[in-house]
Parts: sequence; structure tokens; C-alpha cells
Amino acid sequence: MVGLFARANYTSTSMPPISRPRGTEDLLPDRLAAMTGAVAAGMRIASSFGYREIATPIFESTELFVRGVGDTTDVVRREMYTFPDRSGRSLTLRPENTAPVLRAFGESSLRELSPPVRLSYAGPMFRYDRPGRGRYRQFHQFGVEAIGDGEAELDAEVIAVAWDWLADLGLGGISLQLNSIGDAQCRPAFRQALLDHFAPHLAQLPELDRERLARNPLRILDSKDRATEELMATVPRTRDFLCTDCGDAFERVQLALRAYRIPFQLNDRLVRGLDYYVRTTFEVWHEDLQGAQNALFGGGRYDGLSELLGYPAAPGVGFAAGLERVVMLAPPPAPLAAPQVVVCSAQASVVSLAIDLAQRLRRDGLTIVCDVGRRSLKSKMRAAERTGAGVVGILGEDEAKSERVTLRLLSTGEQVAVRLEEASAQVRDWAEASARGSLS
Ligand code: HAM
Repeated sequence: MVGLFARANYTSTSMPPISRPRGTEDLLPDRLAAMTGAVAAGMRIASSFGYREIATPIFESTELFVRGVGDTTDVVRREMYTFPDRSGRSLTLRPENTAPVLRAFGESSLRELSPPVRLSYAGPMFRYDRPGRGRYRQFHQFGVEAIGDGEAELDAEVIAVAWDWLADLGLGGISLQLNSIGDAQCRPAFRQALLDHFAPHLAQLPELDRERLARNPLRILDSKDRATEELMATVPRTRDFLCTDCGDAFERVQLALRAYRIPFQLNDRLVRGLDYYVRTTFEVWHEDLQGAQNALFGGGRYDGLSELLGYPAAPGVGFAAGLERVVMLAPPPAPLAAPQVVVCSAQASVVSLAIDLAQRLRRDGLTIVCDVGRRSLKSKMRAAERTGAGVVGILGEDEAKSERVTLRLLSTGEQVAVRLEEASAQVRDWAEASARGSLS
């Protein structure tokens, strides 16, 4: 009586249901399996190039991103989830993982290893972005960083990891966009050339692009605005401003990419949205992704980042891919494996025996779903068929007395009663016969 009353009270509640925060996603089993499968493939390929997985905290001190990513970037100005902790320290949910990995490298014994130190990672990132197709506030990245070595061939290597990974996932329709944005030596001249180019047309530019020009002129090359676009035809190209070292490095990256047989398009307007890049920048675009979120992944070289974070110089290069976008575009992986056996108790009195048998079979390496509900055996059998299981094990009082289980092979209807300890061997015999195609 009391129980019923409490339940009535509970169901008559007028509380609105609580839903997930905007821009987040519940990863239901099929999608999560696709994502973890993609990460496993990425880690396997990265490891074949010598990369080892690292995990850093999901929150970091805010200063790490302000200094590392840059306080003029959209990410830092508008998109960070920043909060004070109970002692008043400013923390931020990581919007990206290059600065955290460099911090971990600088702070640990990793920096004593012989360079380059090759690291890979996967995990959630957070940006207060406008949610849309392929754009979330909590999203996941898979990425690699090669730290401690400034050789240009390494830039091509990290691209090759990503390229091989996308091929492994069967993802077509992609193009590699490549640019060099120079370094502290040659970039100022390019920046000035951009300012000179747009100076006579400031009035034509939208507010946002005028702001970009004032704060971080290179970012104007990213503009999607029609009026700005019209002024791009004769815009200066970074390539024409590279100093000898940056020019040589860019040549070497391209040579190495050809050796990896990776096609690329030179893209003079690829400047990327994070401030730490020098020299090589790249993105992989997919033909089905449009506008601001057309990149499956992006990356580049960040030789001055370590010093910005307060550590000794450690040049580096890496990429990160958005897993939601990769999974959305890759062919779906094989469906989840069905259980091999469903164990059903035919009578309530044999529930303990059914549980015991299921555990025994699991220990033998089989995937078992145990149905000990109080429904009729007939409805349990129907439910078992819907799971896609190969075999149903039925336990009733007769079986309990004789310490046997009735196994039914669902594909043929064949049925045998075997001793409990022989059940796994019978299931395996059937599985092997089915693999040989010799089941009648
Ligand atoms: P990023 O271009 O900001 O680079 O992000 C890399 C990828 O993460 C993007 O190409 C995209 O696929 C995905 N992504 C970014 N924002 C979102 C979002 N709001 N929703 C869904 N996916 C998103 C970086 O993060 C650099 N740390 C990459 C890097 C590594 N550079 C050097 N090493």
C-alpha cells in the first residue's frame, strides 16, 4: 500500500524533464562504438609510426590557453568554459589539447627522452561555439604531437598518420590543404602587406573583419564575408614572403608528402584560428562539410609554444581531428556483435541455476545474455531471436534435476540436451560448423 502510494505521488509530479545541455550529445552505443573504433584504429596507426598515448587533465589553468592559444583568438575570447574553483583559481575546460600536451611534456621526464617525442591522444574538448551540424560544445578529438624536433619532414609524418587513418576508416572525398605562414622573421612583412592591401578599402569591410585586421591581420584571410571576399583576388600570398629558412622548410614538407604519396593543394588563405602556429599549417577538408566547419582535422607546426608556456624551447608539430565529423562521414562500422547465447529459465525455481550457468559460459569466453524474467518461455524465446543470438539455452525443472541444459541452435531449430559443463563445447562446435558452412 505504502509502495503504491509513493509511486502515484512520484508519477503525478509536474517537474519538467531534464535534458542534456545545448551543444552536447549522449553517445548511444552504436555511435560510441563507431567513435571508439575510430580512435582504436587511429591509435594503432599512430603506434605503427612510434607514437604513444598520453592523457592530460580535462581542466587546466586558464592561463595555459590565454598564453598558448592566444588572447586574440576566437577560442580564447569567446569560446572557453572558464570558472573559478573553490580557492578562486581560474580554470578552463580544455578547448584543445596541444597546449596541455606541451605543458605535460615541459613538466615531465618526457623532455629528457631523445627527440622527437611522439605522443597521441583522444578525449573530449569544450568550446562555447554555436551548435550546428558537426559543431558541438563538447566534442572529441583524436590527435598526435611530435615534440622536440624542428625538421620539416616531421610535418609530413604527422599528416601521413592522419591520412593513413582516414584511408583505414574508408573515408573518401577528402583533400589536404597546405600552407606556410612563415615565422617571426618573415611574418611581419606579410602582415604589413595585408594591412596595406586592405587599408584603402576599410569602409567596405564588415565590422568583424575590420576588427580582425586590427587585432590579428592574418585572420582576415579566413573571412567568409562577400565584401571581403571581393578584395581577395589580388591579396598578397604568404608564400611570396617566406624567408629562406621557411621557404626551404616548406619545400621539404612538400617533397616528403610526395614520398608518402599524399596529394595536397596549396592554399594561400589557410591561416588557422590558433595563434601558436609557425610555418606549416594544414587542414583536411571533406566535400560534404561546408562553410566554417568543413575541416575534418587541422594542425601545423608550433615551434615557439613551449617558451610561451614558460618551458625551454621545444619545436613541435601535430594535428587533431574532430571525431564527431570523422564518424559522421566514414562508412558505418559492422553492427554490434549479438550475444552468442541467451540463457532462459523456464521456471522461476531455476533462476539461480540459470545465473550460475551464464557465469560459467562467460568465463569460458562466450557472450551471454541471461533472461531470468518472469515471462513465459515462449515470449523469452521470441525475445532471444530478436537479439540475433545463435543459440538459446533453456533451463527448466527437468534440466535442473538431470543437471543438463537444452541448447537450441536457432538457425536450424536443432536441439540437444547436454551436461552443464559440456555446454560451451557444444556452442563452439556449432559455431565452427557454421563457419565451415556445414550446418544443415
Ligand atoms: P582545431 O582546428 O581548432 O585545431 O580543431 C581540430 C579539429 O577539431 C577541427 O578540424 C574539427 O574537426 C574539430 N572541432 C573543432 N571545434 C569543434 C566543434 N565545436 N565541434 C566539433 N568538432 C570541432 C586544434 O584543436 C589544434 N590543437 C590542432 C593541432 C594539434 N595543431 C597542432 N597539433
